[in-house]
Amino acid sequence: MKKYLITSALLYVNGLPHLGHLIGCLLPADVYARYLRSKGEETLFIGGTDEHGTPSEVGAAKEHMDVEEYCKKYHDLHAQMYRGFDLSFDYVGRTSSEQNKEIVYRIFNELDKNGYITERTTKQVYSPDDNRYLPDSYVMGTCPYCGYDRAKGDQCENCTKVLDPTDLIKPRSVLSGSENLEIRETKHLFLQLPKMEKELSEWIETRKGIWPDIAYSIAKKWLKEGLQERGITRDLKWGFAVPKEGFENKVFYVWFDAPIGYIGITKQWADEKPATRSFEDWWLNPENVIHTEFMGKDNIPFHTITFPATLRGTGEKWTQVSMLKGMNYLNFAGGKFSKSAHRGIFMDDAIKEFPADYWRYWLIANAPESDDANFSFDQFAATVNKDLNDVLGNFINRVLKMTVNNFGQQVPVLGNITNAEKELYDSLDALTEQYTAYMDKLEFRKAMSTLREIWVSGNNYLARTEPWKVVKTDMDYAGTILNTALNLIRLYANLSAPVMPQTARRMLDLFEVNEQIEFPVGKMVSYLTGLKPGTPFKLSDPLFQKILPERIAQLKETYHEED
Ligand code: 2FM
Ligand code: ZN
Repeated sequence: MKKYLITSALLYVNGLPHLGHLIGCLLPADVYARYLRSKGEETLFIGGTDEHGTPSEVGAAKEHMDVEEYCKKYHDLHAQMYRGFDLSFDYVGRTSSEQNKEIVYRIFNELDKNGYITERTTKQVYSPDDNRYLPDSYVMGTCPYCGYDRAKGDQCENCTKVLDPTDLIKPRSVLSGSENLEIRETKHLFLQLPKMEKELSEWIETRKGIWPDIAYSIAKKWLKEGLQERGITRDLKWGFAVPKEGFENKVFYVWFDAPIGYIGITKQWADEKPATRSFEDWWLNPENVIHTEFMGKDNIPFHTITFPATLRGTGEKWTQVSMLKGMNYLNFAGGKFSKSAHRGIFMDDAIKEFPADYWRYWLIANAPESDDANFSFDQFAATVNKDLNDVLGNFINRVLKMTVNNFGQQVPVLGNITNAEKELYDSLDALTEQYTAYMDKLEFRKAMSTLREIWVSGNNYLARTEPWKVVKTDMDYAGTILNTALNLIRLYANLSAPVMPQTARRMLDLFEVNEQIEFPVGKMVSYLTGLKPGTPFKLSDPLFQKILPERIAQLKETYHEED
């Protein structure tokens, strides 16, 4: 039996993650991991923080902290927020760990031995005013391809083009703002991507129709432009020192050691319980492991080209990515999330406003899968009020109350079933099959709209059978209807659990049966007759609260939605 390795992009440790990060990689990865676990699949879900490189140096300088302390502080904050949103990582690790260093050195040495690493003298931006080299994101300027004026030296986040700092028009130092920049010569190491072009190109072709279009097309675009050798070292202090003569004062480029971090972090996890866990089982086991990666679209080139090339060049049998889910951006009020501009919603604030499940459901139902999406409090409130309150919450309330009033606090007997039940079973067979298929394909928006249809089918069933009338004439059939409706609650709990784990738990715990979340498989008729008559249930506070107009107005003001 194959097992599943799931990784979410390792976010830069500087600053705090916002809703865009949550939907860009963390949350869809978690939903998928929960889905697979609830189907009984062996699953390992790995995440963590990306700690090297210029973002950490810049962040630490701003807070007048030592870089190491700074990284620890933010790593802990990220991990705390992941817990707040019920992200079920098996391990949240760090790219700066000793384990990662060990794997980075191992991979680098193999690449070097196999002739994939070459030395070259390069021109680098030097800032006399800052008294240092300015690699990558220390340089900002105008993108030569799209004209975006805040493009960073390593990548334009607007058009996703990978850049060299020297490509930028009107470059300036991020540190001092100085435009007085010089170009100086310095020696660096390069990964020979051109040597692997053919092999990569053949492999990417096999991913067509399997990866989402955005992932496949960004990889293709890179290949079409012709692969360039890529610098993997930098003139920085913070990072893993390069273990090669003549390069002792340099460190590896953050994008060299970050994806290797997935492996390093798996080793952190394994080292905690070496008797029962091994990272080789997951990472040197391509025949038995299906690896699915989740990331925002700016990360796609590194995961489709450079990281696979890095692993292949070693000649070792590393587990390669099977499925790659790339997300577009989530915007706020038509623009990017930005802390400095006070725009957007960060995870620490979000969780203070509403329970995790409200955000989780809205984000997954509106995931920026085929295009960028926009967050607005009006839409958020409309979804919470309609889907969660009116459709799901209301169904549960009505069913519990009607049952208590007519049969007491226990599941009534299932008597003879009629066409209404048969048709419900049939339509749920089709809908759960569809839901499962979308989850398997990682098409989250479609999965959520199917889940919503499944919830709606419960309301339709009540509208059709009218148990509030039947109780007056036929208690046997009224019992059958409410038995079926209570079983629907149990079904909804298990189907909704990947996206709304807390709500699902509360739904399942209404019944005193001590069940674990398990994804329903097979025919719905057996599933919908699963709760034994006589099973006691609890009454609960409503599962959701509506978001009222005054609250929406207040949220818009607090988060500057209309500025
Ligand atoms: O975009 C980012 O936040 C990167 N730090 C993601 C790295 S993913 C992986 F390679 F570690
Ligand atoms: Zn651009």
